[in-house]
Amino acid sequence: MDREEISRIAHTHHPIKSPLNDDSVRQLLDHGISRGDERVLDLGCGGGEWLLRALSSRPDLRAEGVDISEVALADARTRATGLGVRDRLVLHHQPAAEFVSPHAFDLVLSFGAAHAFGGLLPTLAAAREYLAPGGRVLVGDGFWDREPSQESIEMLGDFADLATTVDRVMADGWTPVHGHVSTRQELDDYEWACWGTLADWALDHPAHPDGPEALALSATRRTEWLRGYRDTWGFVSLVLRRTFD
Ligand SMILES: C[S@@+](CC[C@H](N)C(=O)[O-])C[C@H]1O[C@@H](n2cnc3c(N)ncnc32)[C@H](O)[C@@H]1O
Repeated sequence: MDREEISRIAHTHHPIKSPLNDDSVRQLLDHGISRGDERVLDLGCGGGEWLLRALSSRPDLRAEGVDISEVALADARTRATGLGVRDRLVLHHQPAAEFVSPHAFDLVLSFGAAHAFGGLLPTLAAAREYLAPGGRVLVGDGFWDREPSQESIEMLGDFADLATTVDRVMADGWTPVHGHVSTRQELDDYEWACWGTLADWALDHPAHPDGPEALALSATRRTEWLRGYRDTWGFVSLVLRRTFD
């Protein structure tokens, strides 16, 4: 089964592809966007959920998203049209590393896409390229809440603990002006939503050629989470400013 299709189905009821609830997303956007007429860039925007929420509640905001998935960008276009914000959203179908912009952005955000840049600090380095003076970066990434098993590291990648993650960000010239650590409820809700929705889809489509694979995958992923990383992995969102520009 195609990876993008799996992700599309799994996120049907949790369109923000991170363990964050709607209030947390709203608060993070509020800390990133103060005036309401800013230019916002999302690196690895997927279906554009962050940008759509920002645009819907701020009529003077302009936004651009970059992603390599044409399927996800098509979803973003359709949703933007439905929400009446299409004229203020520009979508770029290309690798984020190749994106060039004639103007800078007041807020650069990137969630769930750090792997595309090679980790959190390279993501921040990429974001900095587009940042207007005094601008903010809104970024989310994993951390180890407890000592991980080797299996968890192989599954999710290598992270640091929360304090070390923030230390590294600060040593890189950034100051957190707001942060949010996803709660156990947010972490659990995200996993149940993804793997439950995929299982639901498989059970609703017993004759679909991908049905059995989807059902097996939902069970595997749920087990990997429950037995592998539920008690060790955390997720932190940071609103950052350059310490010295
Ligand atoms: C987990 S999704 C997150 C989507 C979105 N940021 C969100 O939070 O809903 C990761 C996204 O990164 C995109 N991506 C992966 N590699 C990329 C790259 N090199 N350049 C741009 N986007 C990339 C994927 O296509 C996918 O849409």
